[in-house]
Amino acid sequence: MTNASGALAPNRASSLFRSTIGAKVLMAVTGGIWVGWLVLHMLGNLQVFAGRETFNAYAALLKGMPGLLWGLRIVMLAAFVTHVALAVSLSNRNRDARPHAYVRKRESRTTPAGRFMLLSGLGTLAFIVYHLLHFTLGVTNPDHFQMVDAQGRHDAYGMLVRGFQTPAIAAAYLVAMAALSMHLSHAITSMLNTLGITTDAKPRLAMIGPVVTTILIVGNLVIVLGVWLNLQPDPGVISP
Ligand code: HEM
Repeated sequence: MTNASGALAPNRASSLFRSTIGAKVLMAVTGGIWVGWLVLHMLGNLQVFAGRETFNAYAALLKGMPGLLWGLRIVMLAAFVTHVALAVSLSNRNRDARPHAYVRKRESRTTPAGRFMLLSGLGTLAFIVYHLLHFTLGVTNPDHFQMVDAQGRHDAYGMLVRGFQTPAIAAAYLVAMAALSMHLSHAITSMLNTLGITTDAKPRLAMIGPVVTTILIVGNLVIVLGVWLNLQPDPGVISP
């Protein structure tokens, strides 16, 4: 409800404020779940440089714990859907709160990554869909997906190596990493601010966002480029 001057009544304004803050906290928590996943996923995938035996044993270990795997998948999916829904809702709220575009946009305190969060987020979403079709469901390259190793296990190692030794696939991953780095460079900093972990009083902690983003992107690029350049120990296809 608005008062005579058109301003929001105090109780309405405070509940709107609360719900916006609540939405931001939930976005930060759900984004944080994905950042945690990205760190573990990257560490797991770096084992490609330890060779086929280590990598396939790791993949088989995860598949051998269906309860944990499915629990994780459900948490990840729920976090993802909540995160995207809140991003759309907050962006609509921001637009509705400012129906007339500013005559001159004041963006001096916003970084380029901050201005393109929705776009880089959509790029990351497109990547995740492709990535699941590629590595988890085996739809895009069934010939890579259906290989088994000498012990009859799913040859996740061969799938990854053959994938990144296909130049178009490796190039697609490089583009995806550019979108992801843009998204994370703003998102992690923003998440830490929302959760009150970084404040103006603790300027050193402001480095956490860029450092974590750099580690994640460099780690993933090392996998894509390292395999593209054939630096992994075993070949993608097992010789007969
Ligand atoms: C170079 C970087 C990456 C590599 C090498 C990689 C590799 C893989 C592989 C091999 C799998 C299949 C595991 C299996 O079924 O055995 C997988 C699954 C998956 N990846 Fe990645 N990944 C990378 C980056 C990412 C990124 C950036 C994201 C998220 C933004 C991501 C999200 C996922 C998800 C959600 C799954 C499905 C896990 C499951 O439920 O089984 N990955 N990845």
